[in-house]
Amino acid sequence: MRGAMSTMTSRSAQARAEHSLYGPRPATARVSVRDLAQAKATGDVWPMLTAYDAITARIFDELGVPVLLVGDSAATVVYGYDNTVAITVDDLLPLVRAVVRGSSRAMVVADMPFGSYQSSSATALQNAARFLKEGGAHAVKLEGGRRIVEQVRALVESGIPVMGHIGLTPQSVLALGGYRVQGRGDKATALIEDALALQEAGAFALVLEVIPADLAEEITKQLSIPTIGIGAGNSTNAQVNVWQDLAGMTTGQPPKFVKRYADVHGVITEAAKRWCDDVVQRTYPATEHTYS
Ligand code: KIV
Repeated sequence: MRGAMSTMTSRSAQARAEHSLYGPRPATARVSVRDLAQAKATGDVWPMLTAYDAITARIFDELGVPVLLVGDSAATVVYGYDNTVAITVDDLLPLVRAVVRGSSRAMVVADMPFGSYQSSSATALQNAARFLKEGGAHAVKLEGGRRIVEQVRALVESGIPVMGHIGLTPQSVLALGGYRVQGRGDKATALIEDALALQEAGAFALVLEVIPADLAEEITKQLSIPTIGIGAGNSTNAQVNVWQDLAGMTTGQPPKFVKRYADVHGVITEAAKRWCDDVVQRTYPATEHTYS
């Protein structure tokens, strides 16, 4: 009986895995907005990871991560800025190209940086088109709620898939006065209205960053498009993380929502130190690394 039960359980796990967006797949086509809509309808939970270079993109793509985000977090983890305000479209474009080249199945979403879409729908359209035409991205992401719905509508009407992003919007860190939890208490209603407005304007998915878990759950219930949480509890339809955070490449105290899965900072330090030691002690290169 137990054997039969466990066979049934493993069969249903297998069936779930076969219909899941996440997991290695032959790359017949890129993951599309329709696949993400279907995942919401079937309750399939999926991961999204940031990527900024071809090698990392290939690793995540082979693992079957369905959506890769070339985040403006590249400002800090690639370019070394203190926050995401300074990064530009020209800074991000080469990273988008690299991630597109490194992947064959994942949808690649390009983050529109601060200043590239706020001023008008025309500016938003010009810059979003650059990410699709010059970068090869499959969608763009914009931060903000009702204040940017005109831009979102203009992009969607021009055929550009748009991912929204509300809650803690790091591009507004100077106005927010720091990185703090958003949408607490009577601010919750405004965030729900932002979410509904973005959906109505045609966004195909919505990132919810650093908001209370019960608010994220409520937004997820009210929306027909998928929600993607980061520091927003465990009820959203998907989760996203900056991969350097989860891999332990960044140093210092990470935000509460980050779980460290590895100590890549330690691994790289150790490998680099052993190589440096070998060089100064003349034990590298050895005969087997040397051409006669
Ligand atoms: O830039 C980024 O990496 C992001 C994610 C944290 C959602 O916007």
